[in-house]
Amino acid sequence: MFSQSRILCPQLRKKIMSADQAAQFIENGDTVGMSGFTGAGHPKALPAALVEKAKSHHLEGKPFRIDLWTGASTAPELDGLLAEVEGINRRLPYQSDPICRKQINEGHMHYVDIHLSEVSQYAWSGFLGKLNTAVIEVAGIHEDGRIIPSSSIGNNKTWVEQADKVILEVNNKQSIKLEGMHDIYYGTALPPNRKPILLSKPSDRIGEQYFKIPPEKVVAVIETSSPDRNSPFSPADDISNQIAEHILDFFDHEVKQGRLPASLLPIQSGVGNIPNAVLDGLDKGPYKDLTAYTEVIQDGMLNMLKSGTLSIASATAFSLSPQAMDELNENIDFYREKIILRQQDISNHPEIVRRIGVIAMNGLLEADIYGNVNSTHVMGTRMMNGIGGSGDFTRNGYLSIFMTPSIAKNGAISAIVPMVSHVDHTEHDVKVIVTEQGLADLRGLSPRQRATTVIEKCAHPMYKEKLLDYYERACHSGRGMHTPHILEESLSWHQRFEQTGHM
Ligand code: COA
Repeated sequence: MFSQSRILCPQLRKKIMSADQAAQFIENGDTVGMSGFTGAGHPKALPAALVEKAKSHHLEGKPFRIDLWTGASTAPELDGLLAEVEGINRRLPYQSDPICRKQINEGHMHYVDIHLSEVSQYAWSGFLGKLNTAVIEVAGIHEDGRIIPSSSIGNNKTWVEQADKVILEVNNKQSIKLEGMHDIYYGTALPPNRKPILLSKPSDRIGEQYFKIPPEKVVAVIETSSPDRNSPFSPADDISNQIAEHILDFFDHEVKQGRLPASLLPIQSGVGNIPNAVLDGLDKGPYKDLTAYTEVIQDGMLNMLKSGTLSIASATAFSLSPQAMDELNENIDFYREKIILRQQDISNHPEIVRRIGVIAMNGLLEADIYGNVNSTHVMGTRMMNGIGGSGDFTRNGYLSIFMTPSIAKNGAISAIVPMVSHVDHTEHDVKVIVTEQGLADLRGLSPRQRATTVIEKCAHPMYKEKLLDYYERACHSGRGMHTPHILEESLSWHQRFEQTGHM
């Protein structure tokens, strides 16, 4: 059907133009909602045209800056290059680009770090202001105007609904056989008109396979042929393997205790070395018919689907290495039956996460002895990436697990500190903390019980005595004994690092 062209709708074929021509629809000061989630499904051509537009504006002494909204992080050719030409005024809801990060931390870019499930609601409710243009990558357009989504869904549905103008990039490097993998839910509403979302297991399909985009809103269609930005996969190191072993032992224990079923509960996993080691460990273990209700499908999940350890994975995007992407494309008929891509207000929806009892597994920068977690701020002031979906899954999950090496920067930093320098996940939400040293199960413990458990199980030997010393002196300081602290000293580890380069 799509052998000649990916754009079959006559009305939209009339709007085919170059990226440079389409860039005329975006002006300095505009707000632009783009597709894109962890290097998957971002527009490939229009960002480059905007970079050129910014450069020519600068030559004429004029500014060119937009507010940029996406699903989550994107790729260097979008976030990085636009940031490099100072083309981004305000960015949301998540990024992980080094140039963006530098601009945010130097105060040149505003950054609004939002729970990923909530972004659509923010936009629908008008909390973020007006959205001028949506720029969305898609895999193809049927003759009757039905639009086949690409390798990520993110906030695309919302951007299309909210924007005055829509620019489509039709990327023929995306497999046309993605068709049928998506589930776009058109039943969301704002309070007080909300209805329950009738999804009770990760395999449930509740929506439609296509985006509905009124053709009259589309001002330009660009044909592209560029792959997603898939980072190579690095094999798990010793630390990641040790952390994975602790988590797998914990799951075994929970199953034996009857607190988890033999096929566990739907898993959510962040991306990176440690999560992939956990997924690998699950794949090698006795588990069968697991399910995933998560944000991104990374290499480990694809392997698990192939081996049968995982029977279904629901997510909003892929985040695959080039080899895993080849595997997906070569066997896409097999994977289409086992993968559902949803918009991020559904993939991360608190109502669903709570109902189906997700096991949330995410990384952290630092945790304190009482179980508060900082996922975002280096030394309390500098943004790393953002909270992403970690809050959606942590607060609402059946189990929330945070995993980290016990030290960073060759031991100059302890991941366990007396008091976190910024709080993303509170002691009330964090159920388990794991380092290569061990696993602290904090469920049902009082703050003082948590403190001794976290220090005993998770702290690196280099810092264990110092943490115990702090805790014991806090207990004898004559202040409150519920959550003992020495306030004038609680952030001294961070101050010492800033002054001496070591905690
Ligand atoms: N202070 C300063 N730097 C720290 C640190 C700390 N307490 N802990 C770790 N770091 C540094 C590491 O040294 C490393 O730096 P490098 O890149 O220069 O080597 C970097 O932070 C990343 O640490 P790493 O141990 O490799 O962890 P990671 O890649 O798993 O990332 C987070 C950890 C917290 C940054 C990452 O998980 C994140 O952004 N989380 C928030 C969003 C999220 O959870 N998303 C998934 C939800 S669906």
